Amino acid sequence: MSNMGSYEEKYKDFDWKISEAELSFGKNDPINIGYFCSDRICEQGLGKKLALIWEGFTGEVKKYTYDDIRFHSNAFAQFFREIGLKPQDRICLFMDRIPELYISFLGILKMGGIAQPLFSAFGEEALFTRLDDAKTKAILTTKKHVGKVRRIRETLPELTKIIVVDADDFKLQEREFAFSMEKAPRVEKFDVFQAERETPSVLHYTSGTTGKPKGALHVHSSIIAQYLTTKWVLDLKPDDIYWCTADPGWVTGTSYGIIGPWSNGVTQVVLDSGFSADKWYAFAEKYKVTVWYSAPTAIRLLMKEGIEAVKRHDLSSLRYLLSVGEPLNAEAVVWSQKAFGKPFHDTYWQTETGSIVITNFLGMEIRPGSMGKAFPGIVATVVDPKNFEPITTPGSVGLIALKPGWPSMFRAYWNNKEIYDNKFKNGWYICGDRSSIDKDGYFWFVGRDDDVINTAGHLVGPFEIESALIEHKAVAEAAAVGKPDPINMEVVKAFVALKKGFEPSDDLELDIMNFIRKKLSPLAMPQEIAFVQSLPKTRSGKIMRRMLRAQEWGEPIGDTSTLEND
Ligand code: PRX
Repeated sequence: MSNMGSYEEKYKDFDWKISEAELSFGKNDPINIGYFCSDRICEQGLGKKLALIWEGFTGEVKKYTYDDIRFHSNAFAQFFREIGLKPQDRICLFMDRIPELYISFLGILKMGGIAQPLFSAFGEEALFTRLDDAKTKAILTTKKHVGKVRRIRETLPELTKIIVVDADDFKLQEREFAFSMEKAPRVEKFDVFQAERETPSVLHYTSGTTGKPKGALHVHSSIIAQYLTTKWVLDLKPDDIYWCTADPGWVTGTSYGIIGPWSNGVTQVVLDSGFSADKWYAFAEKYKVTVWYSAPTAIRLLMKEGIEAVKRHDLSSLRYLLSVGEPLNAEAVVWSQKAFGKPFHDTYWQTETGSIVITNFLGMEIRPGSMGKAFPGIVATVVDPKNFEPITTPGSVGLIALKPGWPSMFRAYWNNKEIYDNKFKNGWYICGDRSSIDKDGYFWFVGRDDDVINTAGHLVGPFEIESALIEHKAVAEAAAVGKPDPINMEVVKAFVALKKGFEPSDDLELDIMNFIRKKLSPLAMPQEIAFVQSLPKTRSGKIMRRMLRAQEWGEPIGDTSTLEND
């Protein structure tokens, strides 16, 4: 018997009001994500409960209760006000995964600011593009990363406050402020900014096929979806020890690495350290992690180390495993069943969706290789790319489409109404991914519908890479595509046609690589450059990346009727 009846039947009367009621959202309490993630939990008598256990790469451990994160975030918020920051100012977080990152995020929201998290690994150019676009007013960073900010601040007139959170006796320069969370006095009471449902809260940058990265803007009422999906999909319960391995530079690290667990009053652990299977297992063992949210790339790395590595540790505390960001291979689900005695549950969503929309929901039969079904309250389908009408034949591939209106849907691309509007067709939000749906409502991911490269779960726009490449004096034109990689799923491969007078050589390749290194984030760096005479283009001059990609994947090249040289 199919599973459909029971699942759809059970949630047929679903209403997001369930979540609003549990949060007492919009009753007498302030609408503010910062409040829901700290003050409200303390008001429920959980002030002494651990909110965060943090371990640094040297093994240093720090612990914070809900009371601690409440008064530390108040202190941040008060400081932001004191130095003249105003509600709706964009405040960037540019730090490694240190406790200040998580706690100041709440402080920004409590003051009414818009939090703009960025990966600390970003180089100057990647940082500049995003700060310039958002007209960011302030940036929180550390001694380790402030150099990058200093090198670009002259070109960012709006960026008037650079806050160094570990300054100590560090010599500050113009526009720089020191703020030490640990040394600042406890701020018991802070008059939390009273947001409206639609007040902007978080601005996450994400890459598209064309143009610069776009800032997906979220609002305070997103918490309605983030709270409930955390509770129902991640299945977090009061005694859980939860570990989300994602960096808050990525939406997973904020929606489910801050807002979800803390609005549920759960204890979470953070490891600010690079990957090693043994280190990860030892960490999960040490803190008796129960719920673990990670990504297929990490799972593939763990698989490479084999089950022996798992067996060297006592991981019996783990009770629920989840994955996001890329297709979760059926092998990974089968392997995790063998290694941990339980499967990874896939979750599908995007920066733009703000919360999980399709998932192998708790209690559902898992079909390895499928992403699962739509979360209750999410109307999801696949549509025909020609007329954006839902496809009703089971197994047919179409574009994943969601009915707009769920609470955590992005409300804008920052300053980019045209691209935002373009994402909505025939009353559907078009995700930009291809999938089929089987007769029981399970989604089977096929691939992206655009040229965006998904490397280790991170989206990289070909345009950014190509723009960097063509600035090199030898490069006439360039195309970047994803090529298959056993661990990262895809890595970037660049095709480059040279200007007259330049010849391909290893030295030139190295020179080009060095040239773009400081312009691109490490993830966007090509792993390989192929020199070509010319690039395949449509008659209207658009590079046909699809063809280059198909070659790399050994797939049929498809329709070439628009190719320039037919
Ligand atoms: O292509 C899909 C892929 O990641 C994209 C969204 O990336 P981003 O905005 O960075 O957010 C990722 C974290 C929420 C999607 O359009 N993707 C995400 N989850 C899955 C996935 N692809 C296949 N299976 C998934 N579970």
